Amino acid sequence: MATVTFDGATRIYPGGEHPAVDNFNLEIADGEFLVLVGPSGCGKSTTLRMLAGLEEVSQGRILIGDKDVTELSPKDRDIAMVFQNYALYPHMSVAENMAFALKIAGVSKEERDRRVREAAELLDLTPYLDRKPKALSGGQRQRVAMGRAIVREPQVFLMDEPLSNLDAKLRVQTRTQIASLQRRLGVTTVYVTHDQTEALTMGDRIAVLKDGVLQQVGTPRDLYENPVNMFVAGFIGSPAMNLLDLPFTNGGVAFGDHVHPVAAEQIGNRDSVFVGVRPEDLIVSTEKPGLRVRVNLVEELGADGYLYGSIEAESDAYADGIGASDKHKQVVARVDGRTHPKTGDVVYVLPNPAHVHLFDKETETRIV
Ligand SMILES: Nc1ncnc2c1ncn2[C@@H]1O[C@H](COP(=O)(O)OP(=O)(O)OP(=O)(O)O)[C@@H](O)[C@H]1O
Ligand SMILES: [Mg+2]
Repeated sequence: MATVTFDGATRIYPGGEHPAVDNFNLEIADGEFLVLVGPSGCGKSTTLRMLAGLEEVSQGRILIGDKDVTELSPKDRDIAMVFQNYALYPHMSVAENMAFALKIAGVSKEERDRRVREAAELLDLTPYLDRKPKALSGGQRQRVAMGRAIVREPQVFLMDEPLSNLDAKLRVQTRTQIASLQRRLGVTTVYVTHDQTEALTMGDRIAVLKDGVLQQVGTPRDLYENPVNMFVAGFIGSPAMNLLDLPFTNGGVAFGDHVHPVAAEQIGNRDSVFVGVRPEDLIVSTEKPGLRVRVNLVEELGADGYLYGSIEAESDAYADGIGASDKHKQVVARVDGRTHPKTGDVVYVLPNPAHVHLFDKETETRIV
């Protein structure tokens, strides 16, 4: 087992104008499950492939433990990678697939058999050891790919969207299995996904990437409660955090005729601000005070539901400042699944004052 250190790791592809990964700094602890998350094209795979030695590092260094591996070939890094498409050998049995890398490495037959048996036990694959991959379900193939990594007993596991070929239900089951397996084995793991739910449920810590730049690293709770900017605020959590364009007035943010107080030094010389409130932190009422919202739709999900609406201007002083762009006029609030307003109703929403985030409109970074 080992720590992993990215020290200013940068990857500029030949002919590329911008770095695909730009000055990436991160220390991953021994035994940690670190999830790298972000939208398509943000540089997740490139980061992982630099660590694997499959992609050249243009600037900076990568260390595994105390050892600088930046110039080492993949086979000398003591890592095992699980890819999205599993890449199993079709003509080999499950057991042969799992043992293949060990055979190449010159591990004795006895030792190979022992490790394959143990991994198969761990992954519930014992009954399938003699089958070919084509006679397995998607979930079983995924487990064989995991088994192939486990038998190598590497210092670090690298996984690039290993669940994306599975259907939704199996993905949920398998993510729990992988997370608990990783805890049992205690092997440092870097796991790539674009799915924020996977990130929140699996990771000890999450690193959020955007356009090749690391935005924030923290525990799932940290990122959920204290996003450093609007990108992280909007990316982590589902439905996404409301990011409303609201005016400052009378010492605070105006939610319609209600003022949420904000310290003068935080307001500065701003007229308005992006206000972040999670759907569960909005209080919905049929009466004022609050932000006037027209209900567009209520999504019922059994125990609770989500109300989707648009901020409506009222004939009062605050209306002018509301909603420069349409995107920041849309509201989603968690409501009771059984008793809730209906499409077309007018409601008033207020924030839970303990969970209001303010973001500067220019920089989109967090003020409070
Ligand atoms: N071999 C390559 N040559 C040139 N550009 C590349 C190459 N591979 C990736 N890129 C570019 O680098 C950027 C990051 O790509 P990368 O594959 O790391 O993204 P990703 O976050 O893994 O995306 P996804 O979620 O779609 O897998 C993208 O803009 C991509 O077009
Ligand atoms: Mg990728």
